Amino acid sequence: MSQPTAKPATGPFPDGFLWGGATAANQLEGAYAEGGKGLSIQDVMPHGIMTPPTEGPTQENLKQVAIDFYHRYAEDIALFAEMGFKVFRFSIAWSRIFPNGDDAEPNEEGLAFYARVLDELEKHGIEPLVTISHYETPLNLARTYGGWTNRALIGFYEHYCRVLFERFGSRVKYWLTFNEINSITHEPFISGGIPVPRAELTEQDLYQAVHHELVASARATRLAHELIPDARIGCMIVAVPVYPLTPSPDDVVKAMDLAHASYAFGDIHCRGAYPGYLLRHFRDNGIELDITDQDREDLTHTVDFVSFSYYMSICESADPRAEKGPGNIIGGVPNPTLEASEWGWQIDPQGLRVIINDYWERWQKPLFIVENGIGAKDVLVEAEGSLTVEDDYRIDYMNDHLVQVREAIADGAEVLGYTSWGCIDIVSATTAQLSKRYGFIYVDRNDDGTGTLERYRKKSFGWYRDVIASNGAVVDNGVTVA
Ligand code: BG6
Repeated sequence: MSQPTAKPATGPFPDGFLWGGATAANQLEGAYAEGGKGLSIQDVMPHGIMTPPTEGPTQENLKQVAIDFYHRYAEDIALFAEMGFKVFRFSIAWSRIFPNGDDAEPNEEGLAFYARVLDELEKHGIEPLVTISHYETPLNLARTYGGWTNRALIGFYEHYCRVLFERFGSRVKYWLTFNEINSITHEPFISGGIPVPRAELTEQDLYQAVHHELVASARATRLAHELIPDARIGCMIVAVPVYPLTPSPDDVVKAMDLAHASYAFGDIHCRGAYPGYLLRHFRDNGIELDITDQDREDLTHTVDFVSFSYYMSICESADPRAEKGPGNIIGGVPNPTLEASEWGWQIDPQGLRVIINDYWERWQKPLFIVENGIGAKDVLVEAEGSLTVEDDYRIDYMNDHLVQVREAIADGAEVLGYTSWGCIDIVSATTAQLSKRYGFIYVDRNDDGTGTLERYRKKSFGWYRDVIASNGAVVDNGVTVA
């Protein structure tokens, strides 16, 4: 059979496509000790994932104030509405609701804050998309319990989910259980609250923690289905397509092995059981997990959709001399054909089409791109009497990625929506900088903590507004909607 000719897909995206932006509580809210909030692991990570956690909170931690969304949420949501957002992804800070993680009763002040955020979103007709746990495990659960290595966290998490579903279930219809759940095997502290450096953590303890999170995610899914029958609950994965560095079968197999390490999380969330290649990894490495019959039953409660972040692809090589480059959580061997961002993350719009096709064919579940964007050093300039950023590089990056989303939809994949990462400038997760900016909205705050916190619309603000207003029709054809 001859190959179908792929004419470039053009025109609008599917009706009801959910356009918007994404954030996480610890990176934008600030008010780290207000409103009865307890400490989270982020409060002892002033330098992102680069250096070991500090004993307690320190003032150099930009996240203590972040961009002060806690007090400015109404103004920020109004700006999102001005761009026409259909959806806003944000996380609930677990330690605002349960300051120690293991408390019996929730903190009403924390719940009241998110109720106010939801009021504001409703006022503007913006659908909330809530991440239940985004790298924000309460510090007490890390320090006292060893994070997700401890089975007790399943119960604490389920209790937290029950409170969220009971309080907000009538208002929130899209839920994500854990941000980038597969990142735990790379960054056990930020992702799993495990206070043991990766190099010292045994594979046994690591995979037991993975198992606990997977069971917790499945239990949350079951609970959401019981308590909010019209809700859709999804998993969230760091999507990093892995290409073999060369056509050598050795490289192809190495690339397959590395891809499996992430696929496993989606396979379990979508198929309800451990895949054979992961069971083999356990056998080969003498890993014997504590898996109860109840766990096995819990895991059969599969998600309604798969969401993921996409920033870059990587290569893998069987040659031990091939060196890894910088990248998002899962760094890989750099691809000699690609350019990179100022932080060394390689830019590969077609990788997004590849991964959407992969996931769609593998799981046959609707997909949601809940993070994508470029971190860049923006410069505020004066234009037509107001301050702005001429961020054509951001427009190009997002445009090129959206072209590929449209291609993947034309290939047959069901894609629910697209929320660009850091739709307003926030503190970076990996480097804890504010100068690594992703937003359509510039926030006047610098890495040394100075700045007025004023907000300014970047050039990309108007571009994204046009994208949304045309339901994606302006993507890659240069036509601006009046
Ligand atoms: C994702 C995280 O890995 O990447 C976000 O879910 C993070 O929390 C984003 O901010 C971008 O990474 P960074 O380090 O540039 O902020």
